[in-house]
Parts: sequence; structure tokens; C-alpha cells
Amino acid sequence: GKGNYRHFMEKELHEHPVVLGDTLRQYIDPSSRAAVLPELPFDPAVVPRLTLSACGSAYLAAQVGRYWFEQIARIPVDSDIASELRYREPVVPKGGAAVMVSQSGETADTLAALRLLKQLGQKVLSVVNVDESSMARESDGKVLTVAGPEIGVASTKAFTAQLAVLACLALGFGRARGVLSAEDEARLTAALLEVPAHAAALLENGEDIQDLAREVVQARDVLFLGRGSLYPIALEGALKLKELSYIHAEGYAAGEMKHGPIALIDPAVPVIALCPSGPLFEKTASNLQEAAARGGRIMVFTDAIGAPSLRRFAERVVVLPTVDPFVAPILHAIPVQLLAYHVAVLKGTDVDQPRNLAKAVTVE
Ligand code: M6R
Repeated sequence: GKGNYRHFMEKELHEHPVVLGDTLRQYIDPSSRAAVLPELPFDPAVVPRLTLSACGSAYLAAQVGRYWFEQIARIPVDSDIASELRYREPVVPKGGAAVMVSQSGETADTLAALRLLKQLGQKVLSVVNVDESSMARESDGKVLTVAGPEIGVASTKAFTAQLAVLACLALGFGRARGVLSAEDEARLTAALLEVPAHAAALLENGEDIQDLAREVVQARDVLFLGRGSLYPIALEGALKLKELSYIHAEGYAAGEMKHGPIALIDPAVPVIALCPSGPLFEKTASNLQEAAARGGRIMVFTDAIGAPSLRRFAERVVVLPTVDPFVAPILHAIPVQLLAYHVAVLKGTDVDQPRNLAKAVTVE
């Protein structure tokens, strides 16, 4: 049941710290601070390319994974939504591998893409939450997220658990390929192991996000912006808001604004930006400043390092814990989920069962 929570989604949001801890403990050895790879159907040291595919939020988790596999493990990656990949006639290399991501393990398009990639000779590894699912059965290998049952249609803890697993895979692959030093691996696993405590702190201090929700609920359209591994999280913020509150939202890469979307900037369209400190901070901040100069109302998630300079032009600054840029997408996923949740509650929509949606999309 829901216990003392109003909705399954609220309960599942509060399970983030436990789920992230359980999942990370599965794939990190805390004493050696090394990533622990599961049994794999391919050798990550020599795999020529990874094809990533999934649907919806799981696809956005895979998109974050793509940044990690490229940056940390230096593996060429192709990624696409499963409904496109399966009809694209994709070209895959001999000896290549695929990573599919799914909470349910029953999503029709993802399952079809999995079967196609197997037919094309790829070794398929699935990141799934349901062990006895079709995808788990049909894959050459599986990696389980330890999220427990997720009842709310909107993915919350399963999404961050997918990110946690993909992060550990990227570290393990980086080590296997000889491109990640033991020192960097130790630093990055330590950053991952701190995420559950940061998630707990964030869930306790949700007032800024509730205030932000009171602004957002009045909007008809909302823009979400991010760069690098925060770009898929901006897309996830927009997806969650649409799905739960029926408010139109778009996610963009911050650097793409001047190629069209900046025309939408208007005081009536809140701009929600994910802008933690890190190598892309200055670039994102300058994109936001441009939007502010054109009358955009900027509401930004950042950390204590990024906050002072953003406060000069942003209307609202929500300060999250300061973390290594590697784990920032995991941490930022939680406030965008919380925001969509609070907006939906304010609007009075059906939080756990949004209109027209099903938990597992088992038809094409
Ligand atoms: O079970 P799956 O992870 O394969 O589901 C994929 C999508 O249908 C799912 O993530 C959907 O986008 C969620 N409702 C998002 O909150």
C-alpha cells in the first residue's frame, strides 16, 4: 500500500535513497572502491560499438548512459528510441553489443528492438527492474536495477536506479578498456556512493521546489534546458511535467536555443534550467543569461558553487548539494520529478494514473 503517503508516486519518490543505495551496493565494492561488473555477454575491452535503445524515460536514462560510455569508457555509441531503431534498418558492427533499458522489461517496441539487434548479431545486455520479464529472458545478459515494484505510472526510483546501473557499467567498461585509472575510478565510485545521502537531504528540504511548483502550475508552456549529461534530464523534466500535469513542456539542449527555440522566450513561458557547477557551467549560464536578456524568467537548479553568478539574472535559484559533475544527472533527476509531482497535485490531476497512459506499454 501507500502507507502514509498520498500517492504511490510520493512514496516512490521517497524511496530514492534506499533504492539508490541498494542498487549501488550491487555494482560497487565499497572497500576497493571499484565498480563490480555483472556477468556480461560481450567483452567490454574490445566491443567496437554499443547500440543503446529504450522508450520514454528509460530512453532518457540511456541517453545519459551514452555520455558516460563515451566520456569514461571511450566506447563508440549509437542510441535511439526503440520505435525508431526497429524500423531504421540500423547498421551495426560485427562483434557489436547492445544495451536495452526498461523498468518493466515488457515494452513492446523495446522488446522488438532487442530481437532485431540479436538477429543482427549483436550481444544484448538488458538493464531491467523486473527479473522475470520477457526482456530479461530474451537477452544474452541482464543487469538488474534494485528499485522494487514501481506502481506510479510516472517512473521515479526506477529511472534513477537505471542511471546508477549505467554509471557503474561505464566505470567498469572504462577500467576494462584501460582508459580509467584506479584513482579516477575510486573518486567516481565514491561520488556515486554519496548520492543516496544527498537524495535524502534533497527530499527533506523540498520547500523551494514546492514554491517553484506554484509558479509553474500557472504556465501553459514550460521550457527545460540543460547541457551534456544534464540535457537528457531536461528532456525528462519536460516529459514528467507533460505526463503528470498536462502542461505543455519542451526540453532543449541549452546550446540549441539560438537555433530556433529562443523565439519562444516570453515572460509567460518559465525556463527551468539544470545548471550545476562543472565544465559546462559557464556555457549553460551564458545561454540562460541570453534568455533572461530577452525577457525570459529563469528558474534554475544548481549548487552552492553555481548559485552566486546565476542569482544575478535568475528569478529563482534552487540550490542542490554540490557533487562531482559525473553524478549530477542522477541528483538532478529527483527535483524535476518532485516538481512535476507538486504541479500535478496543485492541478488536481490523477498523479498515479495519468490520462491515456499505461505503466507498461505492451502494444506498439
Ligand atoms: O517499462 P519501461 O521502462 O520499458 O517503460 C518505458 C516508458 O514507457 C516509460 O519510461 C514511460 O515513459 C514513463 N511513463 C515515464 O515516466
